[in-house]
Amino acid sequence: MRIAVAGGTGTAGRYVVGATKAAGHEVVVLSRAAGVDLTGDDGLEEALAGVEAIVDATSPPSTRASTAQSFFEDVAARLQRVGHRSGVQRLVVLSIVGIDRVPGFGYYAAKVRQEAVARDGPLSVTTVRATQFHEFAAQVVAQTRKGSFAVVPVMRSQPVAARALGEVLADVATRPPQDAMFEVAGPREEDIVALARTVIRSRGRRIMVSPLHLPGATGRAFRDGALLPDAGARIVGPAYSDWLATADSAWPPL
Ligand SMILES: NC(=O)c1ccc[n+]([C@@H]2O[C@H](COP(=O)([O-])OP(=O)(O)OC[C@H]3O[C@@H](n4cnc5c(N)ncnc54)[C@H](OP(=O)(O)O)[C@@H]3O)[C@@H](O)[C@H]2O)c1
Repeated sequence: MRIAVAGGTGTAGRYVVGATKAAGHEVVVLSRAAGVDLTGDDGLEEALAGVEAIVDATSPPSTRASTAQSFFEDVAARLQRVGHRSGVQRLVVLSIVGIDRVPGFGYYAAKVRQEAVARDGPLSVTTVRATQFHEFAAQVVAQTRKGSFAVVPVMRSQPVAARALGEVLADVATRPPQDAMFEVAGPREEDIVALARTVIRSRGRRIMVSPLHLPGATGRAFRDGALLPDAGARIVGPAYSDWLATADSAWPPL
């Protein structure tokens, strides 16, 4: 089977690529580094020749609300439209647990729109909502770091290893089309601020992390557990401490 992974060079996407290849399938990576910019049509129809399923693991260049919203809407609509024209049968969209339970957070509103636009087309769509990745703490430090200081939001989270999530996404992509949504989470609730400090130490870096208490309803939702998975979520290991012992010590970059 031929599977396209949009964002196949990213934190989650790289593991979707690995798991799909390991299962014996052919992979086409759709990302700028692989020569396909999904904010335009150029080269997409050719890249999708013979592809049965697309996994969308893209993320915009900035988490700012307006940038994220136009990126996610544009890419989701394009994958549906050009995918259908190219004979693709199904789309698997990677989203985030709890995005519709957190008010006033633009990036999450953009993810809700991405899901809606992706569902609004002829391809069958499976939406996989994941919790924060084990890699998330390092991603936030990299995004917020100024010199040797970074801020990390205080939030309840049950993070999941991107590699384990990648295996779930690869499995879904190779199954018969199904319009569905489900959640994926790791085995334990963790303190993301503590994880940020742990990963910084494990890399031998000296970066001070300040906890960020987001204001208003957004912050309350973060702290009250809006991002925790529902009872029916698929739980996949390893837990953070076991993961860190074997994790790629250069990815994501700090
Ligand atoms: N990080 C988390 O903890 C987390 C948790 C749950 C769900 N998610 C969701 O999972 C998805 C992936 O997140 P991530 O952290 O893996 O993102 P990431 O590491 O930032 O990777 C983003 C990917 O998108 C690609 N991309 C960006 N702009 C593109 C464009 N114009 N055309 C084609 N490809 C483009 C990038 O490749 P190029 O730079 O080569 O273009 C890269 O492969 C996101 O939608 C995010 O909301 C993330």
